[in-house]
Amino acid sequence: MSEPFTVAIDGPAAAGKGTISKAVAEQLGFAHLDTGLLYRAVGARVLAGEEPLTAAQALTREDLERDDLRTAEVAQAASKVAVIAEVRSALMEFQRSFARRAGGAVLDGRDIGTVICPQAEAKLFVTASAEVRAERRYLELAAKGDRTTRAEVLADVTERDRRDRERATAPLEAAGDAVVIDTSDMSIEDAIAAAMRAVTAKGARR
Ligand code: C5P
Repeated sequence: MSEPFTVAIDGPAAAGKGTISKAVAEQLGFAHLDTGLLYRAVGARVLAGEEPLTAAQALTREDLERDDLRTAEVAQAASKVAVIAEVRSALMEFQRSFARRAGGAVLDGRDIGTVICPQAEAKLFVTASAEVRAERRYLELAAKGDRTTRAEVLADVTERDRRDRERATAPLEAAGDAVVIDTSDMSIEDAIAAAMRAVTAKGARR
């Protein structure tokens, strides 16, 4: 497909959005943007002492390639800068132009279907119970040798969800026209298949 086609995938922390988005993008030959990385990169700069808005305006491609963006500390910092309306606006144009690139794009985040790309051709809201999400994230971290405990992971996920849902600007919520996929009792293969069915039903093709 050479014309733009936007797939918006939103949902709470660790619901499987990242894995699903990567797989959908790969199967369709679309580009993929994990928009959480933008907020994490701003959060990392803020932890190093910068002002949030200055950090958002100064973001470069190298910031997104840092290998320390996946920690719970950076995740918390990300969800705090994500509350600031000016920070969100500073990151908007980059996301919108990525979404409309030729050849199709998958963007995953919290506000893609509601605020960044309300006209997206396909919208998914991927969710799962907090316990299931925390357990998956815990196993992922443990496999990498990270010693964060189950209880710490659950606390991080629950705290970020609350902040993301309750903020005034672009809160986490499903767009009215999003297809909701609850992955609590699904294998990752089934979740990817459900996402592909929803996206191809909207006309996406390679
Ligand atoms: O998706 P990820 O867990 O990497 O996102 C980190 C944080 O960035 C989220 O908890 C959320 O506060 C923020 N975020 C956001 N809007 C997005 C993507 C992420 O507010 N589109």
